[in-house]
Amino acid sequence: MGNVLEIRDLCVEVEEKELLHDLDLTIPDGEVHALLGPNGSGKTTLVMTIIGYPEYRVTKGQILFNGEDITELDITERARLGIGVSQQRPPTIAGVKLQQILDYVIANAPQRAQEVDDLARAFHTEEFLNRDVNAGLSGGEIKRSELFQLLATRPRFAMMDEPDSGIDLEALAVVGDMVNALLSKEPGRPAHRRAGLIITHTGHILDYVHADKAHIMLDGRIGCSGNPLILLDKVRKYGYEECVRCILRRREE
Ligand SMILES: Nc1ncnc2c1ncn2[C@@H]1O[C@H](COP(=O)(O)OP(=O)(O)OP(=O)(O)O)[C@@H](O)[C@H]1O
Ligand SMILES: [Mg+2]
Repeated sequence: MGNVLEIRDLCVEVEEKELLHDLDLTIPDGEVHALLGPNGSGKTTLVMTIIGYPEYRVTKGQILFNGEDITELDITERARLGIGVSQQRPPTIAGVKLQQILDYVIANAPQRAQEVDDLARAFHTEEFLNRDVNAGLSGGEIKRSELFQLLATRPRFAMMDEPDSGIDLEALAVVGDMVNALLSKEPGRPAHRRAGLIITHTGHILDYVHADKAHIMLDGRIGCSGNPLILLDKVRKYGYEECVRCILRRREE
């Protein structure tokens, strides 16, 4: 088993400002990692850089996907390789209905029409199909709509930016089911998963989705990596300031 994602020494600039600094991150095949970190630490920047939004300019380092250097590929080429993202704050797309996106997906894979219908029914997204993408949806509905689009496109590697933010407790179970379905390689084999990356502040999603490892992002770098439950517990008890102090202590040793 190789690495699905390997990021080496990555520096990223947006509008001339460096937001990620010499960042390293590896996600092996079949592993799901969680990314924690305070507001503004660069989590969304990392996800947008991996999927390839052009305003996130890589000034140094490499992004490898299944061993292939994708640093210079554009966003469409990366999506075709199987990288998918559910955004923290996706835009509303006036004039494009969710059904039209699904029709496009199905046109490329007609055998999946029934499967996509079943997904809409299972995750209660049928009522969104004939509306413009994200138009007028509540915060929680937008999260479900995003995950539903990802499920329909079945990416090999899914990144989810705060799928659990603004979700009520009942909907959280549905979101957990959606994320688990997305990460599942084959129905009925829950331990047989695709690689994924889940950004979360509260860790609520981790009550439903098992993460193999967590990383704490601080000021555009991965400050610490380890067991998700231990790291979450420490962050809840002592806050991110203690992470900063811990890193400074380690540097002095
Ligand atoms: N287009 C931009 N121009 C200038 N600064 C930006 C731009 N995009 C992001 N930033 C800055 O980069 C930093 C990291 O932002 P990012 O959205 O990656 O943080 P985050 O860790 O996802 O935070 P949150 O938990 O609040 O979602 C922030 O200080 C943000 O203001
Ligand atoms: Mg963010």
